[in-house]
Amino acid sequence: MIRKGGKTTKNNQTPNFKIKSIEAIKLISKEERIKAIEKAGLNIFLLKSNEIFIDLLTDSGTNAMSQEQWSAIMKADESYAGAKSFDNFKNSVSEVTGFEFVLPVHQGRAAEHILDSVLIKEGNVILGNIHFDTTLAHIEYRKGIGINCVIKTAFDCEKKCDFKGNIDLEKLEEVLEKNKGNVAYVLTTVTCNSGGGQPVSMENIRKTSELCKKYSVLFFLDAARFAENCFFIKKREKGFENKSIREIALEMFSFADGCTMSAKKDAIVNMGGFIGFREKELFDKCIPFCILFEGFPTYGGLSGRDLEAIAVGLKEGIQEDYLRYRIGQVKYLGEELEKIGVPVMKPIGGHAVFVNGKKFLSHIPQEQYPSHTLAVELYIESGIRAVEIGTLLAGRDPKTEKEIMPELDLMRLTIPRRVYLKEHMDYIVEAFKKLKERKTEIKGLKFKFESPILRHFQSTFTRAE
Ligand code: F0G
Repeated sequence: MIRKGGKTTKNNQTPNFKIKSIEAIKLISKEERIKAIEKAGLNIFLLKSNEIFIDLLTDSGTNAMSQEQWSAIMKADESYAGAKSFDNFKNSVSEVTGFEFVLPVHQGRAAEHILDSVLIKEGNVILGNIHFDTTLAHIEYRKGIGINCVIKTAFDCEKKCDFKGNIDLEKLEEVLEKNKGNVAYVLTTVTCNSGGGQPVSMENIRKTSELCKKYSVLFFLDAARFAENCFFIKKREKGFENKSIREIALEMFSFADGCTMSAKKDAIVNMGGFIGFREKELFDKCIPFCILFEGFPTYGGLSGRDLEAIAVGLKEGIQEDYLRYRIGQVKYLGEELEKIGVPVMKPIGGHAVFVNGKKFLSHIPQEQYPSHTLAVELYIESGIRAVEIGTLLAGRDPKTEKEIMPELDLMRLTIPRRVYLKEHMDYIVEAFKKLKERKTEIKGLKFKFESPILRHFQSTFTRAE
């Protein structure tokens, strides 16, 4: 709390909650950490959670639920069909998104699986502002082609820009024109995870929607972090300062034909997702695939208790007080790291601080995965688990099988919702201070085993010479 002119006001990091239940964490010794990461083949995905002190692998499904969510769980209806919990879930999704037709799924990629099964034919193109890795993997699994139309500034870590997740509208129109009759849909990811958790402006979403209408193409939102995107719109885009997050969300979704959602992010739950549709026709086409892959359309791969937790969490996720604290905490970490000279993606994104590993370990060539190497070293130094969003994640070109060398090679410090405190953030900064001192001695990595699909999860490594 800060005292301002005699009045006590909340700073951006003051949480709108207090803690009732805790989980103990333990920092094992450096020797034990070295042994653990060697045993895991120098792949942070293969560590055990009890070997980790602060887990910043993801903000997905790692959130702390509220007492309201837990009590809703106790009242869940576990009927196979027509459960009351589905009605609660569906009403909450419709209230927040405005979409009347809703299919529950077990997580975001299941939504992609169903939607792509209906919409993508071999050779179709799917345009967007950097598709997330599972999104692109599903597109390619259906033999579609993902095309990236994000603005060029998105690839400049240093340049400040309010809406770095925006689509380059000129490029979008060019690609739409060139691929007339061959576009499955356009997908805007809010916020743009692979581009650093950067937001997309309402104006950009509106104009993308207009172009889609002009070319008679469906327009979807990947809404995993929609609430964080809405908070940025409120803070940064003219005309939205006095609107509530709920109003901004409804307006944002109003431009789309539907959305895919990993509820594991902004619905503050541990499992779940959905697809929202404006029109019944497409919803009806997706139902058989939901039954085939997920389950009956009133549970779709989720238990009644999961549906209840989402119903409550979606509304908590759009509380402005919560979002101010949430995004404030991420910003605090980013700014503290910047102060000690760690190169980070600017501005700081919504759910994570993205460290420019390629720049921090500039002596390690991109072919030796500098940001992944940094994640391994951060673990050894401090027991913190971060994740690479870069060359390792990008994988190989499906046609040439050559490694893709993305412009952004980053390491993500992903902050789970309502889980860690300011003191944890300070511990992370201290770890980087120590890493900085010995960074020139750090060696890059090469594959010992390269896993064929989504290779970052299962591959193992050795140190490069
Ligand atoms: N879309 C976006 C933008 C995502 O960030 C994710 C997941 C998905 C779709 C897929 O959702 O995991 O529920 O199947 N992102 C997680 C992450 C895994 O760590 O960023 P899912």
